[in-house]
Amino acid sequence: MTDRFPTGLDSTYRLNQGIEIPCFGLGVFQMGPGAETERAVRWALESEYRMIDTATLYKNEADVGNGVRASEFERSDVFVTTKLWHTDHGYESSQRACRESLQRLGFDYVDLYLIHWPRAPTPADRLASWRGLVKLQKEGLCRAIGVSNYSVRHLQELLADSEVVPAVNQVEFHPFVYDPELLTFCGDHGIRLEAYSPITRGRRLDDPTVGGIARARKRSPAQVLLRWGIQHGIVEIPKSIHQERIIENAQVFDFELGPNEMSALDGLAGGARVGAGNPAEIP
Ligand SMILES: NC(=O)c1ccc[n+]([C@@H]2O[C@H](COP(=O)([O-])OP(=O)(O)OC[C@H]3O[C@@H](n4cnc5c(N)ncnc54)[C@H](OP(=O)(O)O)[C@@H]3O)[C@@H](O)[C@H]2O)c1
Repeated sequence: MTDRFPTGLDSTYRLNQGIEIPCFGLGVFQMGPGAETERAVRWALESEYRMIDTATLYKNEADVGNGVRASEFERSDVFVTTKLWHTDHGYESSQRACRESLQRLGFDYVDLYLIHWPRAPTPADRLASWRGLVKLQKEGLCRAIGVSNYSVRHLQELLADSEVVPAVNQVEFHPFVYDPELLTFCGDHGIRLEAYSPITRGRRLDDPTVGGIARARKRSPAQVLLRWGIQHGIVEIPKSIHQERIIENAQVFDFELGPNEMSALDGLAGGARVGAGNPAEIP
């Protein structure tokens, strides 16, 4: 084991906007509202997770807020991300949408606010949304701001228009959609890549390459995929509603994949996405 990589759930990365983001968290997409989400948030926090990723779309922001409040942790101990949905693009609308999210969460601020997709009526609208997020950050409602599902072209468009560089780009990222160009572009601009669907929504866990490494390492396929992301310097946010999987998914800091294993996993690139489309196709 080397100390080049995060060493535990308390490891963080410093974002270009000056705050720390945990290297690992819980995603809550497709979690039922109420008890299902609240319970998962509680289990995650009890298992030393310190980050929860929600969105307006997921309709469980209120349950995330309740889960955090019901825990033994202070609001400031937990890093909470939420996102702006397509219907709220625009300078005024983005600010209104963030305030509504905060109301549902029951928080004064969110740690990270992301534009969920570049899918706005026009490119000018998504640039206006970004200016809205910059204003929200200045007002202290978002500690950091970023984007999601932005291709290199969308990032270039934003960087040409704004001096505020996104802290994070959250995209589908796992070996089957490994995209070194996007990873390098984000790295070169100080944008931290965050992986959604890091365990392929469970759909590729039977892949023979992943399975072979998992057997050799006496780990689960999910743990191998998550460890691969960690060794690429990516923030990981796997989702589970099951306590034993929430615990299992975080047990990825006590083994290291070797260079051959990393290249074998990198070599799976070119597979199908499990998410809602390819951002590069969005004009
Ligand atoms: N920005 C975006 O556009 C975007 C899009 C999608 C997702 N996200 C975020 O990223 C998070 C994670 O992505 P995701 O939910 O799409 O997919 P994921 O985390 O890759 O996979 C979740 C699925 O895998 C199952 N699972 C969890 N742990 C497992 C394990 N150890 N072994 C086998 N199966 C396991 C879960 O089932 P159980 O729950 O039944 O355990 C669930 O069906 C989301 O929750 C959300 O916060 C963002």
